[in-house]
Amino acid sequence: MTSRRNFIRTAAGVVAANALPMTWVECAFANKAENFTFGYISDSHIQHIKGTEFVRNWDRGLIRAVAETNLLSPKPDFVFFGGDLGQLGMKEELDHGASMLAKLNYKTHMVMGEHDYYLDLGEYWSKLFGPQHYSFDHKGVHFVVLNSILTYDDWTYHRWPTAAQRMQEMAGLDNPNGSPFMVGDTQRKWLAKDLSKVSKDTPLIVLSHSPLQKIYRGWNFWTEDAEQVQALLAPFKNANVLYGHVHQIQYNQVGSIAFNSVMATAWPWPYPQSYAQAASQLPKLTVPMNRADPFFERDATGWQFIDVGTGRVTANYQLYDNKSRTVAFDAATGQPQDVIYQPPTARIPPQTHY
Ligand SMILES: [Fe+2]
Ligand SMILES: [Fe+2]
Repeated sequence: MTSRRNFIRTAAGVVAANALPMTWVECAFANKAENFTFGYISDSHIQHIKGTEFVRNWDRGLIRAVAETNLLSPKPDFVFFGGDLGQLGMKEELDHGASMLAKLNYKTHMVMGEHDYYLDLGEYWSKLFGPQHYSFDHKGVHFVVLNSILTYDDWTYHRWPTAAQRMQEMAGLDNPNGSPFMVGDTQRKWLAKDLSKVSKDTPLIVLSHSPLQKIYRGWNFWTEDAEQVQALLAPFKNANVLYGHVHQIQYNQVGSIAFNSVMATAWPWPYPQSYAQAASQLPKLTVPMNRADPFFERDATGWQFIDVGTGRVTANYQLYDNKSRTVAFDAATGQPQDVIYQPPTARIPPQTHY
């Protein structure tokens, strides 16, 4: 109890003197899952200019996340990087990003993002970081990492005259030439086999880049075979999905599966409902984050530490120019819930685009 309280104070003090609610301290631990934390950094979009020059703002977002993660006390057990390390999948970008991540004092697990993949179909990324999907066990929790940003073979192999054009087309948020992401048959078969060895009582944490749920197809906040993946996770009593890609706070509950997104260190995306031409498909549970000025370089970006207890995750969002937020699983309602968020009166309304 004491160390947990100290941890909360210390962790909060790293970025701001926020008073965090003591309800955190009251978490009971599951029989099997020993409580622990891990860091989560995502979507740094390191962008090469020329020679040794990179876009400074994206660099600084990642540098800060790494520095603050290293300062956490007690230390997280490991760190996840949630994908989109580079902007256009170039060796220069992946190398530069990898050298910044190498400054983390913890083992780092990597997730593939579309910006890392579509130049050489993940070849250089895999050389640097290893397999694109894998699983491991940690303190009674089964972790699974999926490459969720694959798409149809026709689009990948036959549509574009050059690899660079393929990368550019997939890099745009609302480009109709893009193609829906998917986990695909091969990985789903692997996942089914992997999970068949795991007891349904074991807490499950699945990491993907795109949401393993369908939020908004127009921006590829979407995974085409989400339902099929969810069907494999559904039998687990405590299934949790953490995803990057959307550069904003989202959370949802589908059956036994809790979903939490993570922030980008680079830039925020607007919420789908700000796109006036399409109906909002943001999960009803989600309270949108406070969006301030999109022209301010650090607006609504950040990193997070994840608290695992009772087989569920609590996402602690460390926002660089905004008040921290915490989304915790609420056992009473059986879904993630904001523990700290900006009340409507303190929020700046999101911008309306188009
Ligand atoms: Fe991204
Ligand atoms: Fe992405």
